[in-house]
Amino acid sequence: MVQDEDGNEHRTWRPVSAVCRCGASAVKPWCDGTHKVLRKRTT
Ligand code: FES
Repeated sequence: MVQDEDGNEHRTWRPVSAVCRCGASAVKPWCDGTHKVLRKRTT
């Protein structure tokens, strides 16, 4: 469990969790790999 700056708790099930920075993840605040699709579209 990770707590954000607003005190909200976010459950995580992965040994390593990355925070989504592209804003498109379906499992925010965690990165679910959607950023890879976005990158492909823009290049
Ligand atoms: S950074 Fe947003 S899905 Fe990976």
